[in-house]
Amino acid sequence: GKVVLAYSGGLDTSICIPLLKEHYGYDEVITVVVDVGQPAQEIEEATKKGEKLADRHYTVNVQERFVSEHIFPAIRANGSYEGYPMGTALARPLIAEEIVAVAEKEGATAIAHGCTGKGNDQLRFDFIFRAHGYEVIAPIREMNLTRDWEIAYAEEHGIPVPVKKEKPWSIDENFWSRSIEGGKLEDPAYHPPEEIYAWTTSLTDAPDEPEILSIGFENGIPVSLNGKVMGGADLIRDLNRIAGRHGVGRNDMMEDRILGLKARENYEHPAATVILAAHRDLERLVLTRQELSFKAIVDERWSELAYMGLTHEPLYADLLAFIDHTQERVNGTVDCILYKGGVHITGRTSPMALYSDDLVSFDSKTLDQCDAVGVSKYFGMQARLLRQIRK
Ligand code: ARG
Ligand code: SIN
Repeated sequence: GKVVLAYSGGLDTSICIPLLKEHYGYDEVITVVVDVGQPAQEIEEATKKGEKLADRHYTVNVQERFVSEHIFPAIRANGSYEGYPMGTALARPLIAEEIVAVAEKEGATAIAHGCTGKGNDQLRFDFIFRAHGYEVIAPIREMNLTRDWEIAYAEEHGIPVPVKKEKPWSIDENFWSRSIEGGKLEDPAYHPPEEIYAWTTSLTDAPDEPEILSIGFENGIPVSLNGKVMGGADLIRDLNRIAGRHGVGRNDMMEDRILGLKARENYEHPAATVILAAHRDLERLVLTRQELSFKAIVDERWSELAYMGLTHEPLYADLLAFIDHTQERVNGTVDCILYKGGVHITGRTSPMALYSDDLVSFDSKTLDQCDAVGVSKYFGMQARLLRQIRK
């Protein structure tokens, strides 16, 4: 039979190729690399390796789709989990759908991945593969493999192993976020060395001069940077560079994984930090108090589903329909400064602002402040009454 393997070029997924034949008995292994904005070199190397080691290989570029179908909704939903902007979680469903598309084309009956049995990715992948009716094979999880065994097996099968036998940590990267975990970082008390970071400057090396920035939004998504209209992917790439230079968007945290394990995670997401801060701020200018408080609940529930990768759960689309509807009015510009790891909002404008100078100003002629005298007499009446009774 034929099996399609979600491939990354790393050790785990590379040893899956001979394992799927020798241990699982498949005659044909087809590898798929899905490009959601990983470093170009990583995609290139994975492609070469897949072409060499597998019976057939596909590399699919879905960068634009990732931005428009997953990052944009996450911006509109202020998508975050336990306080950080989700990244890996947003990419997994799209990667899985692309792998299913190859499996369909190839007429495969099973799909394999190289996730461990400890993380979130196994569940996100399994969910999509099973939703499309495929049998799931996860050799690392099922065979309970250790790194030493994997290295020996790779060497036996002519699979190139990185020079450093001890891979110090596991990195997952896409347009929106870069995540670093594992190895010494697993100890929550271990202070991460500067070298784990690739997108952000340390606070001590960040420029002493603040940088002023403005982001334009239309329908809740960023469309311009400093007045220049840009496509989503270019805007995110540029902003990652600009904000990363100022050390914006680092995160070192304890995270509750889906299965309940707590894990130490390190993230960098400079563009996401700036865009989400600006987006939240603009929403506060244009949405009503009722909308804001209800949307916070909806955002949270949507984010939970997105974190779990449950994109086929009907509630995911239901909540997104509400979110999208609110975003029709989220148009305008937000100004901020970037300085030593911080993003500080300094101003906002919108044609849809629910703010009126005339109403709020003390000199207003439209609203007479004397009118508030009567309102004030009713305000908090029940609490005052209870106080009297108790006396
Ligand atoms: N804990 C994060 C998540 O579940 C990131 C995992 C990323 N994986 C990695 N190998 N660095 O989305
Ligand atoms: C893995 O454990 O295979 C990757 C990390 C994760 O899923 O969180």
